[in-house]
Amino acid sequence: MHLYIVTGSSRGLGAALVQQLTQAENTVIGIARKTNPALQAEQWALDLADPIAAAEHLQAWLRANKRWESATLVNNAALLSEPGPLAASDLTSLSAALRVGLEAPTLLSRVFLAETVGVPTRRILNISSGLGRRAMAGSAAYCAIKAGLDHLSRALALEEPGVGVVSLAPGVIDTDMQVQLRGADPTRFPEQTRFQGLKDGGQLQTAADTAAAIVRFLMRPDFGKTVVSDIRDA
Ligand SMILES: NC(=O)c1ccc[n+]([C@@H]2O[C@H](COP(=O)([O-])OP(=O)(O)OC[C@H]3O[C@@H](n4cnc5c(N)ncnc54)[C@H](OP(=O)(O)O)[C@@H]3O)[C@@H](O)[C@H]2O)c1
Repeated sequence: MHLYIVTGSSRGLGAALVQQLTQAENTVIGIARKTNPALQAEQWALDLADPIAAAEHLQAWLRANKRWESATLVNNAALLSEPGPLAASDLTSLSAALRVGLEAPTLLSRVFLAETVGVPTRRILNISSGLGRRAMAGSAAYCAIKAGLDHLSRALALEEPGVGVVSLAPGVIDTDMQVQLRGADPTRFPEQTRFQGLKDGGQLQTAADTAAAIVRFLMRPDFGKTVVSDIRDA
């Protein structure tokens, strides 16, 4: 059996990934605060803003469930704090965004790597963003989180040469995250009009198409060769 652990599984890209990975030969576990009744996979209702508890939950489960042909962790969950300048951002939301977006992937990766030693094929896929590579005003914490995921991945790839590690920008996807960006106050978030234009111009990818491209990317024999990648170039 092949194991896939996907965070942010309740909606958006994560739900589409879980749906497409759910096949007879796979054990798929979705992690989010809410469960999605449309998904057939096992789902854990966990708050990744409490990352030590989530990592300990995964650790206990991996210790009790071994002997996989392959094991893959997809760190997909992210939480946007309200778009706007850092100086005017809410401290509680900023902290939650940092814990969900960067601390949780780091702790889940730590547990995954320690508990899957001996599994023949191991992969960690961190869902990054173009904004980890290009700074944008009004989203400083998100830019830092995604740049952090890119660099975490580079360092893990050095530490774990036997594990495929990739930090992947998925393109611009028609999900709740885009709704939040379009709904932002343009006086606090100057790029609001650009995001509105992408939607109006029909330039958003669907979550299903993006997930299909990511699943194909995961299965490639050269997965991990280019650590910091963009699905649009893959
Ligand atoms: N959409 C885009 O255009 C775009 C572009 C570049 C990169 N990305 C990246 O792609 C990934 C997926 O984004 P998306 O657009 O699908 O986002 P989304 O629709 O906003 O979904 C976010 C997912 O993360 C989960 N999540 C949020 N806070 C959580 C918490 N505290 N604990 C556990 N789970 C939590 C949500 O579940 P619950 O609310 O049920 O907890 C949800 O399943 C993210 O890493 C995002 O940064 C997206």
